[in-house]
This record gives sequence, C-alpha cells and structure tokens, in this order.
Amino acid sequence: MKTEHKTPVSLETLTALCKRRGFIFQSSEIYNGLNGFWDFGPLGTELKNNLRDAWWQDMVRNPPLGPDGEMIDIVGLDSSIIQNPKVWAASGHLGGFNDPMADCRESKSRYRADHLMVYVPESGEGTAFAFLEGEPSVAEKRIKKKAKSDPSAYKVVPYNELDPALIPTVWGPDAQEPGTLTEPRQFNLMFKTFIGAMAGEGDENTAYLRPETAQGIFINYKNVVDTMRVKLPFGIGQIGKSFRNEVTPRNFIFRSREFEQMELEWFCHPDEATKWYDFWVQTRLDWWESLGVDMRNLRRRDHDEDELAHYSTACADVEYQYGFTAPGFGELEGIAHRGNYDLSQHQEASGTKLEYFDQETNEKFIPHVIEPSSGLSRGVLVLLNEAYTEEFVPKGNTEGGPLLAEPGTRPPEGYESRVVLKFAPRLAPIKVAIFPLLKNREELVNKAKDLYADLRKTWPVFYDQTGAIGRRYRRQDEIGTPYCVTVDFDSLEDDTVTIRDRDSMEQHRIPITELRSWLQSKLV
Ligand code: GAP
Repeated sequence: MKTEHKTPVSLETLTALCKRRGFIFQSSEIYNGLNGFWDFGPLGTELKNNLRDAWWQDMVRNPPLGPDGEMIDIVGLDSSIIQNPKVWAASGHLGGFNDPMADCRESKSRYRADHLMVYVPESGEGTAFAFLEGEPSVAEKRIKKKAKSDPSAYKVVPYNELDPALIPTVWGPDAQEPGTLTEPRQFNLMFKTFIGAMAGEGDENTAYLRPETAQGIFINYKNVVDTMRVKLPFGIGQIGKSFRNEVTPRNFIFRSREFEQMELEWFCHPDEATKWYDFWVQTRLDWWESLGVDMRNLRRRDHDEDELAHYSTACADVEYQYGFTAPGFGELEGIAHRGNYDLSQHQEASGTKLEYFDQETNEKFIPHVIEPSSGLSRGVLVLLNEAYTEEFVPKGNTEGGPLLAEPGTRPPEGYESRVVLKFAPRLAPIKVAIFPLLKNREELVNKAKDLYADLRKTWPVFYDQTGAIGRRYRRQDEIGTPYCVTVDFDSLEDDTVTIRDRDSMEQHRIPITELRSWLQSKLV
C-alpha cells in the first residue's frame, strides 16, 4: 500500500528521461522534428503495448462483472482509419469538430482562442494584455511596465468572449506591440487526404483521417449484431490511431496530432442506460487504480450541464494530476452517456436500419450508448508520471531501504540518489534483467546467457554484463525493471541465483529451477 504521496514530476525531467532511456523521441528529430508528433522508442513501445494489452484483456476478453454481478460480453474490432466521408458528415465532425484559433500577425504564433485570456482595463481605456491560460505573469509584468498600472485595475476576459471592437487594443502574449492578434475563427481539426491517383484538392475524393476510433464502431454495429450472436446489452471495443490537427499541440504526448485511443461503445436498452453509465464511470476509475495509479492522483469530474452535447444526458472525465497540471488535474478519459445519437445519425444518413429487435419482448428500438473513451498515448504519460520516483538509498552495502526524496534535493550523509520507475510488473517494459557477476569469467557468463536465452522465450529480458552490479541495478531502476537476477560463484556450485527487488531493493536466493514459476507469479 502506498503511504507517501510523492511530488509530481516536471515535464522537463520526464521528457529528458524518456529521451535518454529510449521511451519517447521527438518525431523526425534529425530533421528538427515535427510539432505534435512523437515516436515511441524501444521501451516506450513495450510500455504502450503492455497498457494496450491490459485494456484489451480487462475490457474485451475478460471484462468485469456487471452491476448485478452478471458476466457481460464485449467483442473487439479493428476498423479502417480512412472511412467514407459521409461517416464524418453524419457524426457531426465535418460540421462541428472545430477549435477556435487566433493568429499573431507579428510573431506568427497560433493560439487556441479558448486557451487565451485577456487582462482588460476596468476603466475601458487603454491597452489590453493577452496571456495563455495559467500563465499570466508575462502580461502582469507588461501591465506594470508598459501601462504603468496594476493588474488589480484589470478584469480577466476569455479572448473568445471579448468584444471584437477591443481586439485591436490587445497585446498578444509574445508580440512587441498591440493589435496583432486576429479575431478567433473556427478551425476544423480533421486531417484531409485524397483518395486515388488522379485526386486533387477540392475534388470529390477528399477523405479524412479518423479523429476518433468510435465512429468505426458505430458503422459496424449492424455487422457485429448480425454475425456475432450478441444480445443487448453488449459492448464493442477498439484500440487504434486517431488524428487531430490540434491548433496547439502541447505538453509532450498529452495533446498530440497523432495518438492512440482505447474506446468502448456499450449498447444497452434506453431504460438501463443510467445504470450502465454509473457502472462504467466507477469501473474505469477502478481500472486505472488496478494498474497502480494512486487514487490521490485521480479524480472524477462530472461535466456541467452547459458542457454537455445536446444529445448527451451525462458525461464524466477521469482526470489525473499530471506534473504540468499540478495542483490541478487534466483529462485522461471521458465516459459519455451518448443516448441513441450516433446510431440514429448513421441510420438516417445511410438509410440502413440500425434498430435492435428484442426477441423476448418483441420490442424494436435504437440502443443507447455509454462510451468510455480513453487515450492510450495519454495513458502512457500517466504511467510515466505515476512511476517516476526519486529516492535516497543507502550507499554501498549499508543496511536500510530507500527513502522517498523531494525531486532535485541532495541526499543525506551515507545516502545517494536514485531515479526509479515503479511500474506495476504487468506494465514494465523489461520484466527481468540478467547479470553475470563478472564479465571476464566464462563460466558465469555462459550460465547467465543460458538463463537469458531461456527466459526471453517468455518475457522481455535484458542481459547486461558491463559495470559494477550497483550501476547495473541503477540502470534497470531507471527503466522500471522489477527484477534483476545475478549469476554468481554460488550459482556454479548450487544452481541458485540472487533476485533483487526494484522497489524494496531486497535480495533473496532461489534455485534456478524455481525461477520461472516465481516470475510467473509476480509478473501479473
Ligand atoms: N469518442 C470520444 C472521444 O474521442 P475525446 O474526449 O475527444 O472523446 C478521448 O477523446 C480521449 O482521447 C481523451 O480523454 C484523451 O485521453 C485522448 N485524446 C484526445 N485528444 C488527444 C490528443 N490530441 N492527444 C492525445 N490524446 C488525446
């Protein structure tokens, strides 16, 4: 059980670790990168795959028991990224999947207009000063320096809601003079592409990269009902890439232009939708906790009436306290009660009946949908934030376990610092590291390599023979490997090895013949 609540890690520290240890790289880095795109390195790929597999196992293959203790059924799907553009007209994405943006004509910066706030003089006279939400300090300094005034003489107005007549008086966040910001205009977030060899811009072959995986599920709802003998209530789950041409991709992989989602559409009778909505909100919070996320860093946020889409009766976000939002929280997952909006829209637009016929009650209706929709890439960011821990550990062979450290602080006498990623073993990219005690003793190396060759048939295993054992442990701690196994001289005599636990740093010996089953019991 976790007792100490660690300080959230800063984005700079996490990004640097991710790059240094092969988790996540800036996309196209050797060409100076591409804003909003990221590449998962060898360890990031393992971590992401483990999270994806955990969701698939716990949601699709072996979902939790329903609210009345009964088994529930969920099937999987993998629909195409490019779909008939009529899908996006019917879903509302073509008409309404917009973000307001504003440009600075001078600095060429582009802003999400709904993330821009403005200090407007209460007197109604003089210059107004814009700033990015949560970062008012530059504007406040300018108020003092340029307007020779005090921020208390100003009111804060969202740029979106500003009287357009005042826009020429606004000083942009990184402009050298006022009046350079454009009026907010709507920007559709879908990436366009063109199908076919002769196709060109504006032609009827325009298509879109999907901005969510969910619509692929709705348009296959009938196929699944007709082929899989599913009965209401049931779910369809899908994991895959989505693309959004975000105006301002920010905060590492939190908001990127290409990302992955894990989405479930739960189809049920309209009368039961509220029961299932409550069930899924709680189930999804519990799931994140089951992966080792500290509940003090998670919270449920119910949307206010005015945040809900016109067809939705309820929506709740699972929010996480990221390093860059702390002490506030940011979205990780949304659970939406979507009514029968999506199936009705596709029924009307396609002309295909999407009603469900209940043979027991002779009732025909369009099912209601509860949608737990989560970011896989954003989930990886949560796991990294959650796992990152700085500790003070006793130097050398001195007694005592690790102590939680304030990030960036110096260790007390007799201790040294370590960075450790405390992933749940199920999610750790590398499960076991194998070390021969000495690299220049052939018999140790051979035995360690035999073990490595055997265990890698089952798990991702790392072999390391260079450097002192302590340094090898540190390298594995920093990538979150839960267990290190050392082959030493006793191993040659009695066929046992030492297992060292990442979190407690405790060691114990175990016969090699028992190692597999021991690991099996731990790596769940
Ligand atoms: N089908 C519903 C839907 O897509 P959403 O709230 O727009 O809802 C669901 O997205 C989840 O997808 C979010 O909670 C977040 O985890 C992830 N997500 C959305 N936009 C993202 C982006 N630009 N970058 C990374 N993850 C994103």
